[in-house]
Amino acid sequence: MCGIVGYTGPQSAITPLIEGLRRLEYRGYDSAGIALGTSGALFIEKRAGKLTNLEGSLPANMPVVHSGIGHTRWATHGGPTDRNAHPHTDNEGKLAVIHNGIIENYSELKAELQSRGHEFSSDTDTESVAHLLSELRKSHGGDLTAAMLDAVKRLRGSFTLVAVHADAPEVIVGVRRNSPLVVGLGDGENFMASDVAAFIDYTKRAVELGQDEIITMTPAGISIIGLDGKAVVPKEYAITWDSASAQKGGYSHFMLKEIFEQPKAVADTLIGRLTDNGKIELDELHMSEAEIKALKKIVVIACGTAYHAGMIAKYVIEKWAKISVEVEIASEYRYRDPIIDSNTLVIAISQSGETMDTLMAIRHAKAAGARVLAICNTNSSTIPRESDAVLYTHAGPEIAVASTKALLTQIVAVDLIGLHLAQVRGELTDAQVRDLYNEMLELPGKIEQILETVEPLRALTRTFAKSETVLFIGRNIGYPVVLEGALKLKELAYIHAEGFAGGELKHGSIALIDAEKGTPVIAILPSGSDHSLDEKMLSNIQEVKARGARVIVIAHEGAEVVGAEHIIRIPACSPLFQPILATVPLQVFAYEMAIARGNDVDQPRNLAKSVTVE
Ligand code: F6R
Repeated sequence: MCGIVGYTGPQSAITPLIEGLRRLEYRGYDSAGIALGTSGALFIEKRAGKLTNLEGSLPANMPVVHSGIGHTRWATHGGPTDRNAHPHTDNEGKLAVIHNGIIENYSELKAELQSRGHEFSSDTDTESVAHLLSELRKSHGGDLTAAMLDAVKRLRGSFTLVAVHADAPEVIVGVRRNSPLVVGLGDGENFMASDVAAFIDYTKRAVELGQDEIITMTPAGISIIGLDGKAVVPKEYAITWDSASAQKGGYSHFMLKEIFEQPKAVADTLIGRLTDNGKIELDELHMSEAEIKALKKIVVIACGTAYHAGMIAKYVIEKWAKISVEVEIASEYRYRDPIIDSNTLVIAISQSGETMDTLMAIRHAKAAGARVLAICNTNSSTIPRESDAVLYTHAGPEIAVASTKALLTQIVAVDLIGLHLAQVRGELTDAQVRDLYNEMLELPGKIEQILETVEPLRALTRTFAKSETVLFIGRNIGYPVVLEGALKLKELAYIHAEGFAGGELKHGSIALIDAEKGTPVIAILPSGSDHSLDEKMLSNIQEVKARGARVIVIAHEGAEVVGAEHIIRIPACSPLFQPILATVPLQVFAYEMAIARGNDVDQPRNLAKSVTVE
């Protein structure tokens, strides 16, 4: 939530700042603003709405200045107006601050600062930090770093803060607590951002800031201190993502590009996981054979789409490894008393690695004594750093707010974990594991096949564009898939959509089907040899059809389908791999519905990619 960028160096700062904000707009797009550090005064411009509004309001003859900060906002405190847009300043207009996160004690700070004469001009929690920093800087003889160190000790909540002062504009000072901040090391120039995507065109050398660390950045270099004021040695790493993968690459939307990148993302996540002697290689788990054999329970915690990957984990791990799996919504988990012992493994799934609900759930689980394994797509993000072990997915940067390729790779990751646990515990033979792994290697080609034949589905989708409600039904491992289909549709098309277990609809929700309107129902026909399950789904299809639903069925090639108005065929596969294929047409359906309804696909209303507030 909220994207932050800072630059200091020889370039005209406006270019890296605006480019950086464009790359970070996925984090929030309620408003955008910049503060440029001209000597003795700040040039500030900020506008409600998307970045283009800010760009449109910049004067043609922009002052050429060489340092500054920029912000793109997902509103928490205070509506998305010009006034509440960041940066926020002190009363002299010389100190500017941008912020990602929430200052929980802002009202108490505000009252205190007002009592000392500070005048506030916004409804944000952030503005109190600008005034506080201004006071503290004066008391430290103009030292912004010392002011930040003192300020942080007064703040509660989660935040990344970045500040600049007009009297020393080349110095940018930042801090982070439970919210990301990465530094890009250039040649005679340096960058700060919420995500490396912001400066990937300028440098591949990065430093991740630790919790409660304060960074002072000038063109000449960086220095980092901890809360105790002692110097911290920066830990540099190389960025492996390239700039092209963060661009649209000829597609009309990032989401479409990311849907089409799924064969590669799945293949990259699978690659090299079977050793020559037929064992699933998952050293990242850092668990001995004895520890795996002693496992009694797995708890998966995640949010949104990642939670659906967690539900899929339950089906595969219970089936293959015979370990009981509980799946928990992260934001709920931390408010319960989890029953955990040393034989419990907690798996946290997160694309961004920054989702605050998931992070807090991890901390809760760790405090209760659990071992935590993260499945994550973003290197060096907070969730992997706070976990005992991490299995990285290789989806590459996911920019569209709606998650697509990250989900498929999360499913691959849980499948690999399931196979590994089953193999170590002797629940599957090496030959069975090899066969299943080899079948997984065919999945990228099968996804490609689906994508090559997607045009008729896109055309069909457009005929449903005026629907007010779309229902989805699935059984067994198809159930999380339909929940995902409904989530994608709500998120992108802004219409009422719900996913149901096929057998559950008749217990009340079938009343939603409106014969006059021909409510669309999308059904996933289970695959595999267990015919009782697909027969039951065929009965469910008849039930909704009899009540006037227009039924679209997603079914494997060769499967017999009765009662469908339209059939979307996907290649055949083993039942437990079906989600990796069946999800794809549902993503395309949601994408096309959003286009048909004139919605912003990559940046749906009210949302942000990385949800770093609770
Ligand atoms: C929906 C979507 C969200 C995320 C959720 C968790 O398309 O993207 O539901 O899945 O916010 O995000 P991560 O995986 O970054 O923890």
